Amino acid sequence: ITMAANQEASSALTLTCLLTALLLPTCRTSAEELKWDENGYVLYCPCMGRFGNQADHFLGSLAFAKMLNRTLAVPPWIVYRHHTPPYTNVHVPYSEFFRLEALSAYHRVISLETFMEKLAPKYWPVGQRNAYCFETAAQRSADKKSCPMKDGNPFGPFWDYVGVEFDKSVLFGGISFGTYHQSHWMRKFPASEHPVLAMPGAPAQFPVIEEHVGLQRYVVWSENMAKEGDEHISNLLLRPYVGIHLRIGIDWQNACKMLKSGDAGPHFMASPQCVGYNRQTALPLTMTMCLPDLAEILRAVKLWVKKTSARSVYIATDSESHSRDIENLFKGKVKVVHRKPDLAQTDLYILGQADHFIGNCVSSFSAFVKRERDVHSRPSSFFGMDKPGKIRREEL
Ligand SMILES: *[C@@H]1O[C@H](CO)[C@@H](O)[C@H](O)[C@H]1NC(C)=O
Repeated sequence: ITMAANQEASSALTLTCLLTALLLPTCRTSAEELKWDENGYVLYCPCMGRFGNQADHFLGSLAFAKMLNRTLAVPPWIVYRHHTPPYTNVHVPYSEFFRLEALSAYHRVISLETFMEKLAPKYWPVGQRNAYCFETAAQRSADKKSCPMKDGNPFGPFWDYVGVEFDKSVLFGGISFGTYHQSHWMRKFPASEHPVLAMPGAPAQFPVIEEHVGLQRYVVWSENMAKEGDEHISNLLLRPYVGIHLRIGIDWQNACKMLKSGDAGPHFMASPQCVGYNRQTALPLTMTMCLPDLAEILRAVKLWVKKTSARSVYIATDSESHSRDIENLFKGKVKVVHRKPDLAQTDLYILGQADHFIGNCVSSFSAFVKRERDVHSRPSSFFGMDKPGKIRREEL
């Protein structure tokens, strides 16, 4: 009986060893990843704007974390689902859209979710969760001394999603997120005393500054997104294809009015991407660039379809698609595709892969596509600007 039991025990042991051997590589890497970083962490809420703005802010925040040599706790994307179920904000982990590992080639990262689950209970325990913000932001609070971490939407739901209440506020002023203030940050907030810098918004500018545009190369689509996107492309489109982004909805019409009224200059939202980042030398930003009318849409599409001998056109839009007008333009000889995607990110992927892309100069959604295409040396233009950085002559 003993021998049999022993045998059974030893075969169980063999099995355990085998399993351990199989699992060991994964166990070891995750244990390594989850070592506490003595140089500290940066946490923030991507609380401004929709995906395009969040992406701009993400690049700057990544650079900020690297500048302070702190690990970036990569936040989820906030998706506003106010017209479709569940009618609230959805927090989508970074890795659903993009590969977290790809960021590591640039700097140390961990997902905010993993940080909260695995590290926070021990190293950032309840009772020691400081919030960090500008004095000016704290001015808005009742006691004028508290960071508005969870005031309103999307702030409250975001920190609730990761189960954080803040205990204390630490205020700062006269300091920016740029490299000029690097040593200032290091001196003011050494990681030994301030291990976790948690902020109400991104420690970055909008739009992304020129020196951080190239960080887009570390934002790599997840396998699932690429697979789904490639399937759509092969099922719906014929190469070569031209991808266009029509940002023409009612909110955009209102935004572009600021341009008409002179309340906005050439630097308006994402426009530095086409007028140039230098304020002194920025090209004029025309109304056509902000809000192309149908004539301009047809002109640009015709031009690029011809130049690239395109056999199809993919339209991503925030409202009307104008697909009939575009079809008629080519008398049915060019396949025109518009679909209502579940995820705006699928559109981003398809536009990124196009043989030519025509974007909206002012839109951060277009800017995401343009940056990604630049990384892979794929050509792009804008409505109202066929050669980025150069205005069409008749408009001058
Ligand atoms: C940056 O942080 C990493 C990880 O904590 C550390 O190994 C490295 O020495 C730090 N670099 C500098 C320049 O302090």
